[in-house]
Amino acid sequence: MKRLQTKTTRLIAQTFERLDYQKLGTIYCDEGGEAFWEDRREPCRTLGIALADVLLNRLQPDGRSLYVGAGVAEIPMLFMEALDLERHIDAFNLRIAEVAAVNQACKGLPLRISAIDARSARGSYDHLWIVSVLNDPEQYPNVSALSYGRANPVTFNPNAFLEERTNIMAFAEACLKKLAMPALVSTSVEEIPWITDWCDRNRIQYRVEEDDYPTAIVEDPVCFIRIGEK
Ligand SMILES: C[S@@+](CC[C@H](N)C(=O)[O-])C[C@H]1O[C@@H](n2cnc3c(N)ncnc32)[C@H](O)[C@@H]1O
Repeated sequence: MKRLQTKTTRLIAQTFERLDYQKLGTIYCDEGGEAFWEDRREPCRTLGIALADVLLNRLQPDGRSLYVGAGVAEIPMLFMEALDLERHIDAFNLRIAEVAAVNQACKGLPLRISAIDARSARGSYDHLWIVSVLNDPEQYPNVSALSYGRANPVTFNPNAFLEERTNIMAFAEACLKKLAMPALVSTSVEEIPWITDWCDRNRIQYRVEEDDYPTAIVEDPVCFIRIGEK
């Protein structure tokens, strides 16, 4: 199994050292943000590097990746793709303050996140990273409650759920149709149904890999789906 170059792991460590955790604390938590990052920053780096090692063995050099919702958790993967595989990366995240914090920590390094809608990405990709986006409780509270088994049948709002589901399906479609087959989708286990539903509706073959991998911030396990392979 290939592993990240030492140069890459060193730059990842430097970037984690340079991040403004005070600012990130206010973005990620209503209170207790500094304690949250004190606890999470090291697992975020180490689990991120372990996951980047896994991804390194699934992508080809010189391809193109689309990252939706790329933030601190994605730093190891983004560096791996840029430095070890020399791939083209388009990374997006609507949390403006997080994008500013990551871009500031990456000044002078080949990593930039855009604080705009990922649907505006141009061209085609052979890798889509979409992790903990389609089940985000902030954006989709009802879908998220159902996905994580937290929905209360007494108070659950089916009409709001239906609207969220329609929006998620349209958003997933907008991202997935940018893929040139065969392609890899990196996503959380909870988001698998959105990806496989799109494949089924478009008669595209897929294979969900059996293994999944831990993450340190949202803590959704990540898995890989190979789509459009013969
Ligand atoms: C719950 S966070 C997950 C972030 C990260 N993947 C992680 O696991 O820590 C979801 C992120 O998706 C971003 N997002 C949602 N819709 C987006 C869109 N249309 N374009 C770009 N980013 C989007 C949000 O801004 C948010 O930062």
